[in-house]
Amino acid sequence: MTNASPNAQFTEERSADIVVGQNVNAGDARLREVMESITRHLHAAIKETEPTQEEWMKAIQFLTATGHKCDDWRQEFILLSDVLGVSMLVDAINSRRPGGASENTVLGPFHIDGAPEYEMGSNICLDAKGENMVVGGRVLDTDGHPLEDVKIDVWQANDEGFYDVQQKGIQPDFNLRGIFRTGADGAYWFKGVRPKHYSIPADGPVGQLLKALGRHPFRPAHLHFILSKDGYDEVTTHIFDPDDIYINSDAVFGVKESLIADFVRIEDPDMIAKFGFQSAHFWKVEFDFVLARNA
Ligand code: BEZ
Ligand code: FE
Repeated sequence: MTNASPNAQFTEERSADIVVGQNVNAGDARLREVMESITRHLHAAIKETEPTQEEWMKAIQFLTATGHKCDDWRQEFILLSDVLGVSMLVDAINSRRPGGASENTVLGPFHIDGAPEYEMGSNICLDAKGENMVVGGRVLDTDGHPLEDVKIDVWQANDEGFYDVQQKGIQPDFNLRGIFRTGADGAYWFKGVRPKHYSIPADGPVGQLLKALGRHPFRPAHLHFILSKDGYDEVTTHIFDPDDIYINSDAVFGVKESLIADFVRIEDPDMIAKFGFQSAHFWKVEFDFVLARNA
């Protein structure tokens, strides 16, 4: 008489059932549910692609290198999630909103706390480099009423496609970042510079993967925003430049139609003087945000 049961033994056909069957005593039901789904999908993918041992080792080495690339500042696994479209999918699932409310997009790795609070109309560009830009609009609720005391946290890359935190000692600290608060009219406006497209960090395994897949690592030019107000869904989003060459091929799939603004070139001397610019032109971007009440 033996204790061994063929039902508990691994076979190619029943591989996923065998593995998930061992998880029945998991204390955390949600963990068990998620691991069952991941196990079943992973086994299905392996059965579909039938990797050789060498190919599977390559995958293991890729994940090992991805881990080794991570430090306090660099998060290569988030980057992997970004280029696989998973960051955007998780975000979409967790930020379903009523029609008309502003849509979310990826946060990205370049947000930092502690940006200066500015008066409305201030210039967040601290090094006078780049083409002048004025960004403004209103923050409204879903009924179209202006929202007061909305915190608007904005950050953007410079005219060469770099954030201040990527160019320490070259750009001033907190260059092209600021926090604004709306008044009773819900209006906001500030000065910056026209952002440029840039490459996501591509000097690691994720960059190599993109290259091997024939993909570029660029994000179309954009400005980042986090809008928050008590009682309303926080919105983490971008405004995109429709004329950017990468607008239809964002490496991290962050572009949504509703987030594309017009960047209008203004050459009218009266308008230039009105905003106090010395340049021969500036760019004007008008964009309204809509916040939905949270449940
Ligand atoms: C960004 O827009 O800052 C960003 C988003 C995802 C990956 C890298 C950068
Ligand atoms: Fe960005």
